[in-house]
Amino acid sequence: MAPIEEGGFGRTLCVLTGASRGFGRALATLLARLLSPGSVWRQSWWRSTPGLRVVPVPADLGSDAGLQQLLGALRDLPRPEGLQRLLLINNAATLGDISKVFQTLSDPAEPFKGWTLYCAGKAARTMMFQVLAAEEPSVRVLSYAPGALDTDMQLLARETTVDLDLRKRLQDMKTNGELVDCGMSAQKLLNLLQRDTFESGAHVDFYDL
Ligand SMILES: NC(=O)c1ccc[n+]([C@@H]2O[C@H](COP(=O)([O-])OP(=O)(O)OC[C@H]3O[C@@H](n4cnc5c(N)ncnc54)[C@H](OP(=O)(O)O)[C@@H]3O)[C@@H](O)[C@H]2O)c1
Repeated sequence: MAPIEEGGFGRTLCVLTGASRGFGRALATLLARLLSPGSVWRQSWWRSTPGLRVVPVPADLGSDAGLQQLLGALRDLPRPEGLQRLLLINNAATLGDISKVFQTLSDPAEPFKGWTLYCAGKAARTMMFQVLAAEEPSVRVLSYAPGALDTDMQLLARETTVDLDLRKRLQDMKTNGELVDCGMSAQKLLNLLQRDTFESGAHVDFYDL
């Protein structure tokens, strides 16, 4: 892929999951301005943007069928002329049922719920991306932690998390105005991608930038 052009990403095929709301939506708005005419979006939600071809794919990415739907839609897409970049942003996520503690997760009828698995999933993703970076030197890979964002996910966290101390801490963050604005965090991510100097596979935290 070509080096990122100053001020933009050039003609790009961009796959952004979870763009219907929260961080993904804020990121989509800022990112669209950095794409050259002729670029293509694949995502689960977007309004029309002049010069960009937008292809919404409503799919449950937590199911194999949904994933296959997205992959099928990508395969069906004609390769845009003069393509300079493929940008895949894996943003979609849920907390699951965080009202349950670790021990209650042993019930095999309910194996995918709770912070335990959310955190384990994020840790697994970080390692997976490090392996991908090592295996594929031609691919630039980044794990970005966007900070405590003022989104639906954060609302769910402060209202239902099982640990009362954590719940209070999250509520205090909201009350004290400590939650991060999605647009500000999305802009930091885009700055990182545009500078393109991070070590491939790195984990970068909003609060360290
Ligand atoms: N909020 C925070 O404080 C925080 C902190 C650290 C990291 N993050 C991470 O930042 C990312 C965005 O979080 P957010 O706060 O913006 O979350 P959010 O407001 O809850 O939005 C989640 C997005 O993911 C989509 N999504 C969820 N499950 C999906 C599925 N099975 N298939 C397809 N799409 C699915 C949702 O689509 P629908 O609208 O269709 O449901 C929505 O667009 C996540 O990866 C999250 O883990 C968030």
